[in-house]
Amino acid sequence: MSRKKEFGDFQTPESLAKKVVPLVNELFGQPDVVIEPTAGLGNFLKASSDFWGESLEYEGYEINQSYVELARANLSDNGIQFFQTDFFSTDWNRVLSRRQEDRVLVIGNPPWVTNSDLGFLGSRNLPEKSNDRGLNGIDAKTGKSNFDIAESMLIQLVESIPHGGAVAMLCKTMTARKVLHHLWNSCEDLTNSSLFLIDAKSEFDVAVDACLFFVEKGGTTKPMATVYPYLAVDSPVSTFGSMGGRLVSDIKGYRRSEHLEAKRDSNFIWRSGVKHDASKVMEFTRKENSLVNGFDEFVDIEDEYLFPLLKSSDLGNGRTEARKSVLVTQKHPGEDTSAIGQTAPKTWDYLMQHAEVLDHRRSSIYQKRARFSIFGVGPYSFHPWKIAISGLYKVLSFVVVPPCHKKPTMVDDTCYFLPCHTRQEAELIKDLLTSELANDFFHSRIFLDSKRPITIDVLRRLSLFEIAQELGRLDDLNECVRQHSRRSGQQIQMSLFS
Ligand SMILES: C[S@@+](CC[C@H](N)C(=O)[O-])C[C@H]1O[C@@H](n2cnc3c(N)ncnc32)[C@H](O)[C@@H]1O
Repeated sequence: MSRKKEFGDFQTPESLAKKVVPLVNELFGQPDVVIEPTAGLGNFLKASSDFWGESLEYEGYEINQSYVELARANLSDNGIQFFQTDFFSTDWNRVLSRRQEDRVLVIGNPPWVTNSDLGFLGSRNLPEKSNDRGLNGIDAKTGKSNFDIAESMLIQLVESIPHGGAVAMLCKTMTARKVLHHLWNSCEDLTNSSLFLIDAKSEFDVAVDACLFFVEKGGTTKPMATVYPYLAVDSPVSTFGSMGGRLVSDIKGYRRSEHLEAKRDSNFIWRSGVKHDASKVMEFTRKENSLVNGFDEFVDIEDEYLFPLLKSSDLGNGRTEARKSVLVTQKHPGEDTSAIGQTAPKTWDYLMQHAEVLDHRRSSIYQKRARFSIFGVGPYSFHPWKIAISGLYKVLSFVVVPPCHKKPTMVDDTCYFLPCHTRQEAELIKDLLTSELANDFFHSRIFLDSKRPITIDVLRRLSLFEIAQELGRLDDLNECVRQHSRRSGQQIQMSLFS
């Protein structure tokens, strides 16, 4: 196990600490007490004492005894005290509480490592209550509970710092956002929330979006933060914030497009594609006109359960001609699969031959389900046309997906789609989704530096009816809805806009 990785141990270059301190001085003025938690070699304390002089109180806290000794040896003359301590067993309320008039600054750089990396490393360098962000079971299962340990450190520090204090720490921009989203609810006196972007590649040789995260305690919390392009109070690049409990990336853009939020678009429900967690068994390419699975085996099965498949890489590259096929064993997740044995015996034999793989799929969602079950299927999967987008790419590229050899094309579970009956319907929806209005709507709500900025939640938020109304295409859309409902044999679920 790499100790460096376990402890997120990337010491801040002195040159960077030297740029941060004057900026903090500009934002906050001179503090009385400077504290560096997870201080490492104490580069921020050194830069602080060089800048503000030795009359202030300086304290560093660090888990690694050898760093503490080195820092003491190098920096004790500057009046800096170092303590060996584990962040997660430190009483930060006590450490940070000083005389009432003292202005406390917490400065530094917490470890950049996620709880799942630590789980993988078998490390216990974690907060005691790792699930304190209120994530439920399914989020935990799908990895939404993955968080940077810096996230819980920053929350604890800001919550513990007394009124009149400030926190200035380097972290991933994603971490800063999550921390602020939490703090805007938990703290009443949070002001001046700001992110100053840094070039983490050149400073730390890591390819992540990172920043200096700055907040002050004082005044009344406003749930918005200003993002600056570099370490200076210069023209901001954006202001993000929390609106109705959700994070939005651009408050002005959000306000401009607020009226486009979906309220009653029950006819257009974004779906995720097919999920099977066994691509080597369930997906096929064609070689010499035969099917070949992911084990490079030639496969002879009936056509009945086979469907053309587009993956994220296809949609991301605008490809609509399926190069793969996928076995779709159910029409809906609860369906009994044993009937395959009668209707398509070769397919059933093939599934049985690979039962070892299918029965041991890791995700617990397959437990207590019919054998060879899949997810992300329903009547909507079998509509002949789709308008789809990849959730893995960071571009809003909507693709009209046609049927292939008279079969509906499936998309995989990294893609999202709206089912359509006709090309005309798909083209109309594509026009709406790619309009400037829709683009503005999405861009003010997504964070392009997130790992997966395009989510089903954000897609579901746009009202196609409102967009159609603004673009003068409401009659076309209403007609599509009527035809769609007729073809689906459904009642029209909503009153059409008039
Ligand atoms: C990203 S480095 C930053 C060090 C220093 N603040 C700087 O900016 O140069 C993170 C530091 O956190 C320390 N650390 C990791 N887990 C810790 C814990 N649970 N308690 C205290 N320090 C910890 C590591 O040993 C490492 O020195």
